[in-house]
Amino acid sequence: MTDDLIYSCNFVIFGATGNLATKKLLPALYRLEVAQRLPPGMSFIALGRRDWNDEIWRNHVTALVQEHFKEKCDDEACARFIARFAYRRGELNDIAMYQSLKAELSTKTNSESAPVVFYLSIKPTDFPSVIKNLDSAGLSQPRGLHRVVVEKPFGEDIESAQALNRLLHDCFDEQQIFRIDHYLGKDTVQNLLVFRLANTLIEPLWNRNFIDHVQITVAETMGIENRADYYDKTGALRDMLQNHLMQLLTVVAMEPPPVLEADALRDEKVKVLRSIRPISKRSVHAHAFRAQYAQGAINGETVRGYQAEAGVEPKSMTETYAAAKFYIDNWRWRGVPFYLRTGKRLAEAKSMVAIRFRNPPQQLFRSTPQDAISPNWIVLSIQPEESMRMEVHVKQPGLEMNTRVISLNASYRKEGEAQLDAYETLLLDVIHGDRTLFIRFDEVEWAWRVVDPILKSWSQEHDFIHTYRAGIWGPLEANRLFDSEDQEWRNYL
Ligand code: BG6
Repeated sequence: MTDDLIYSCNFVIFGATGNLATKKLLPALYRLEVAQRLPPGMSFIALGRRDWNDEIWRNHVTALVQEHFKEKCDDEACARFIARFAYRRGELNDIAMYQSLKAELSTKTNSESAPVVFYLSIKPTDFPSVIKNLDSAGLSQPRGLHRVVVEKPFGEDIESAQALNRLLHDCFDEQQIFRIDHYLGKDTVQNLLVFRLANTLIEPLWNRNFIDHVQITVAETMGIENRADYYDKTGALRDMLQNHLMQLLTVVAMEPPPVLEADALRDEKVKVLRSIRPISKRSVHAHAFRAQYAQGAINGETVRGYQAEAGVEPKSMTETYAAAKFYIDNWRWRGVPFYLRTGKRLAEAKSMVAIRFRNPPQQLFRSTPQDAISPNWIVLSIQPEESMRMEVHVKQPGLEMNTRVISLNASYRKEGEAQLDAYETLLLDVIHGDRTLFIRFDEVEWAWRVVDPILKSWSQEHDFIHTYRAGIWGPLEANRLFDSEDQEWRNYL
């Protein structure tokens, strides 16, 4: 795509007043504005159901940016940013809205050849009608030029994901479809690839001969906020584990691709998903665990339990915590458990990948004051801190032969280097048409296949769900997933 066309790219946000747009998209787009990475001629159309006009919308965005960035807010950039927007009111299932959108887009410069991005920041249940209406109004044409960005979860199980994909392909070409999983836009996740594949030191150790197990944690302190409508039908397994955590797993476990190109990378990720040992119906209990938060305290403040949240069914069995154990049956990983867990209202907001190495074969220092040499860990922290730590044993200075563990910190962000939000990277990729960090459908499909037995089994358990007090690191019962007694969740960096 030439710079000239990108120059006048149009970006349409469906669900512009919703949670995702407010919390992630608009702040990320504003930061791109500050960094002068938005094409100068680019314009935005915000679509929502509220009876607003351009002025109300622009005031809304200004307030949002000021609230989000506080004293770091750049007034000049903010003024440039809001000037790019128009606000249009409409119902997602009203074809007239799409027709007037088409008329409006056709009045723009370069309208025949400039790309339009349609960002579906809406409830997954609304995807089908928006996709069909875009197509009926002729907005999917010209094929290959306009783009549609589909948020996760992509479907709610394998069958619905396949149906959604068929519909997308009826209306758009594959190169127009951007299936987003914003975890792939996070810097540490991309750095994980570099760490693994650019360091001779690491790659030879990255396998079943040296690694005891892998833990992937995405913990949040926040609850479901105002998203009960979506979350109560979705739960943690579909909202986080099937996509974000599974993507992290593939990046940790994949083989080096022959070249660093979108499809080569995705091929390797799919091979990992295909190698995950299927969980039989009878073994779901041993491989997966779910729970729901009860009343507790976060940062010293009492918070209500999940079932008391506005909009949640009083006896809802939706999980807000999900943990699972997977085995990857290939030469590299056979026998190494991958433990995944995610939850809302946990003790800390922390996402990390923790890799525990095997015990040294010989306990040479047994007779020293140190009881036993504990295994090495590599811990990659994704957020809030972006860091990579490697724990190694060293001798304590002094006359005695005492050992201690030190953590080599390979944090790669230097002072003054800005921390990017995943959406900034990904939105820029959408504008430039780069699909490397977006998901191919076979990845989605295989990820659903992996979790499908768990979903089916949980959907039949209507009477009971474990609970955990809000503000702790999840229920102790989740420890039943561990293969051996010396394994436990690592909650610190
Ligand atoms: C979203 C989920 O995809 O990711 C949310 O729908 C979750 O429930 C969010 O809070 C977490 O993203 P991040 O980037 O804040 O870890």
